[in-house]
Order: sequence, then structure tokens, then C-alpha cells
Amino acid sequence: MKFAKVKEMAHVLEPPFKEILNKDYRLKGKWREEFGNDNPIVLELACGKGEYAVGMGQIYPEKNFIGMDIKGARMFSGATEVEEKGMTNVRFLRTKIDMIASFFAENEVDEIWILFADPQMEKPRKRLTSMLFLDRYKHILKPGGTLNLKSDSTELYEYTKDESIPEFNAERSGYHFEKVFDTDRLYEEGINKLDETMQKVMNIRTYYEQMWLEQGKSIKYLCYDFKKA
Ligand SMILES: C[S@@+](CC[C@H](N)C(=O)[O-])C[C@H]1O[C@@H](n2cnc3c(N)ncnc32)[C@H](O)[C@@H]1O
Repeated sequence: MKFAKVKEMAHVLEPPFKEILNKDYRLKGKWREEFGNDNPIVLELACGKGEYAVGMGQIYPEKNFIGMDIKGARMFSGATEVEEKGMTNVRFLRTKIDMIASFFAENEVDEIWILFADPQMEKPRKRLTSMLFLDRYKHILKPGGTLNLKSDSTELYEYTKDESIPEFNAERSGYHFEKVFDTDRLYEEGINKLDETMQKVMNIRTYYEQMWLEQGKSIKYLCYDFKKA
């Protein structure tokens, strides 16, 4: 039932595999036309139910949001909320994030948010902050854009800040992620250092975040500015 309803929603895009296999998706480089404005494009990767795309979409009506995930049923709740609220600045894209380069053109994206993605302890290359993924983001993220990671996982947080980003910065000359915010105790102390609007953003709770908070986990948040030579 959820799959069928999602398929009918114009703001949920589910490109068939053959439409993107070895070729670019029809909206690559044309997302601003799709939204009908020149506003910044913000991606929520591994969006699940899309709490951030919907929540930030309301906080920042002057930005466009795209939630990406492979699981269509989860998107149903976010997509339904977008419909009920009559929001025009949110889309959902059902696809594998691995194919992100087929969906966005060079410098087309202003912000990337990764929220409670699986830490993928057994498969480092599948982590959404691995070198493999950072190499994909470097093409689509524009200079001055940001990369944001909010996570319960100490392993993913430490891996990102101590391994993958330093390795990327050392090995990819001309590209650099500069750390601008770092806390491993977001609600205990980090949040007080953010401005009022960002505090509102941080107080959006995803389904998984809520679960981890109920289990007493501390939440980590990293933010990087992206520089290109
Ligand atoms: C632990 S859930 C988190 C969902 C949501 N962000 C939240 O906090 O509630 C991880 C999500 O990442 C998605 N995901 C992980 N790797 C992915 C990939 N390579 N492409 C698309 N989706 C992916 C999964 O389908 C799942 O919905």
C-alpha cells in the first residue's frame, strides 16, 4: 500500500535502474529547474523517513531539500507529510547513494547531511563517509558547501574525523574538508555553541536518533566546510 501511494506522489522520484545505468539521470544539472527557483540544494543522505528534509524544509523555506534512500517504504511518512503540509521545497529520491554522480552535476549541491547512517563496521567502503564516497561528493558539492554528519556511532564519528577526512585531505590535492564544528556530546554541551536556528535543526529527531537517545547514547555531530582550489 505504501509503495503504491509513494509511486503516485510527484515529489517522490524512483528512477528505474535502466534510466541511470551508465548514464545520467534526466534531472542531473537541472534540479533548480525542477524546484522552479535558484535556491541552494541540500541533500539528506540515507534519509529513512526524511525527518531532516521535512524539518529543515520548514526551517529554511529558501532552500531546496532532497532526501535520498534506497528504501521506499520508509520515505512514505516524510513524503506524506510534505504532501499534507503543501511543501514545494522537498523531494525524495529512491536510489542507491553509490550512484549519486549520475544524479547531480558538478557544484550542483550546497550541503550534504548524513544522519544516523549505518556504521558498516564489516564493510568500510560502504560507509557514507569513506574515501570512496568522499570522492563522489567532491564532484557535486560546491566550494563553500558543507558536509554534516550526525551519528550515535563512536566508530563512524572517529573514523570520519581521524581517518577518512584526513586521508582525503592529504591525498586529494585541490580539495579540502575543513572542520568547523565537532562535538561528541551534542545535547550535553555542543548544542549551546550553535546559533538559535542551528539549535532548532539539531533538535529535529530522526527515527533512529530517537531510538539511540532512549538507549542513553550520546550523539556526535561533525560539520565541514568544503574547499576547492
Ligand atoms: C540506520 S537507517 C537511518 C535512517 C534515518 N537517517 C534515521 O536516522 O532514522 C540507515 C538508512 O540508510 C539507508 N542507506 C544506507 N546505505 C545506503 C546507500 N548506499 N544507498 C541508499 N540508502 C542507503 C538505508 O536504506 C536506511 O534507510
